[in-house]
Amino acid sequence: MLSKKIEEALNSQINAEMWSAYLYLSMASYCHASGKPGMGKWFEVQFKEEQDHAMILFKYVISRGGNVKLDAIKAVPTEWDSVMKVYEGALAHEQKVTSMINDLCALASQENDYATSSMLKWFIDEQVEEEETAQNIIDNLKMIGDNGYGLYMLDKELGARTYTQAAPLAGE
Ligand code: FEO
Repeated sequence: MLSKKIEEALNSQINAEMWSAYLYLSMASYCHASGKPGMGKWFEVQFKEEQDHAMILFKYVISRGGNVKLDAIKAVPTEWDSVMKVYEGALAHEQKVTSMINDLCALASQENDYATSSMLKWFIDEQVEEEETAQNIIDNLKMIGDNGYGLYMLDKELGARTYTQAAPLAGE
């Protein structure tokens, strides 16, 4: 059974993951509209991954006898100055999510909720990967500058990304 505090915190995180999904779908739209279909596709995959994150938490809350209360998803930005700004925004957002996951871990420890701590381990590892991936793309964009061929190749490479269901949802 989940404590009220943990149940509420996990519900907030479900909303935050859905907001992340919405943000990345908006970034996908911007990239497509800016003539970067590969980056657009990359963010579409990111959109699906964030929905997986919300579903992992959704299923966990239910498995512990809790109740998921879905809240409104706030509006997301729709305009950026460049694809560099988009990826910088994605990195800043992932850094924020990392600190949210850290806060959740601290709360689970405080409440002696070892099952929640164990479930959150997957998110801790995921955040390392999320930040690293966004940083690598920013580094590549910096290297390329305004070289059209470089941008074309990077866009092609990012467009090859495919969606894989998050491991904790395997078999769902
Ligand atoms: Fe759900 Fe990208 O963190």
